[in-house]
Amino acid sequence: MSANIEKFIIGLPKAELHLHLEGSLEPEQMFEFAGRNKIDIPFKSIDEVKKAYEFSQLQDFLDIYYTGMNVLQTEQDFYDLTANYLRKVASENTKHVEVFFDPQGHTERGVEFKTAVTGIHNALREVGGELGVTSKLIMCFLRHLDEASAVATLEDAAPFKHMIMGVGLDSSELGHPPSKFERVFGLAKEQGYKLVAHAGEEGPVEYIYEALDLLRVDRIDHGNRCMDDPKLVARIAEEKIALTICPLSNLKLCVVDDMSDHPMKKMLDAGLIATINSDDPSYFGGYMNDNYLSTAKALGLSIDDLIQLARNGFIGSFLEQDEIDGYLAQIDDYVAEFNS
Ligand code: HPA
Ligand code: ZN
Repeated sequence: MSANIEKFIIGLPKAELHLHLEGSLEPEQMFEFAGRNKIDIPFKSIDEVKKAYEFSQLQDFLDIYYTGMNVLQTEQDFYDLTANYLRKVASENTKHVEVFFDPQGHTERGVEFKTAVTGIHNALREVGGELGVTSKLIMCFLRHLDEASAVATLEDAAPFKHMIMGVGLDSSELGHPPSKFERVFGLAKEQGYKLVAHAGEEGPVEYIYEALDLLRVDRIDHGNRCMDDPKLVARIAEEKIALTICPLSNLKLCVVDDMSDHPMKKMLDAGLIATINSDDPSYFGGYMNDNYLSTAKALGLSIDDLIQLARNGFIGSFLEQDEIDGYLAQIDDYVAEFNS
């Protein structure tokens, strides 16, 4: 790959639409929080943590992800976690982020909903404000738990509704189809939340249909498996449903065997609003620029492909149209300057 493309990616204004804050917990912070909260973690050193990050499927990762998040105890922990992520993002010219958190991953172990949401929200507002990074917050339901627990979480969220833009669905996909959560997504829609769901990462194409038809999502997280079904691809393109694709996550979780097999270029050629995101950057070995770089390198993406990907990030966001237009103009200005 030319040095030119690398330089282009680094300066390109980007949006991230698929990021689990708990998955941005770097090993150094894991030790720091474990120390200050007196929590035992099953690792002796940062090296040992990094060595444990070898996965052959989604569940391998989730087991370690839920262990890692045990160190998050206080509002300050959630604030510091979010602030650290935002600083990284700003250094990479990512201008807008729509981030997930997993409230049940915290309430299930005795940390209150309020503690997590307040810490995250304050950091998004204060640190994001200082750095010039705009944001939206999305709470995900854990699909390995039952729907009643998701409904209780939606009720917990009510006093904090002004802090939360949308609801999502994550965790172990196989055996937990979107249909399991039809009722709670209906309630969330009535309450005015935007809706997203992980579907078609490991799960079959039927799960993507269910997310669209039963949950009535505004955006699909991952969705790679739609490429098995040309009719579905045509529908997703026609309905302008954005896909939040996570290339390094796909590689680490063996959704693709090799980055050169990644469907990203085919998705763009099919007219899908495909976007590049980092998912759980601390666990999968890279933030936004690494995801852009490794995809561009493996698939030989052109400057025009990269511009389209960056534009898709804003077009697929939950920003207002005038805000989207402002960011698209920033991309245009960047491209004009880069070419001059
Ligand atoms: N898939 C499902 N659940 C998750 C993921 C993911 O990639 N990351 C964090 N929770
Ligand atoms: Zn995810």
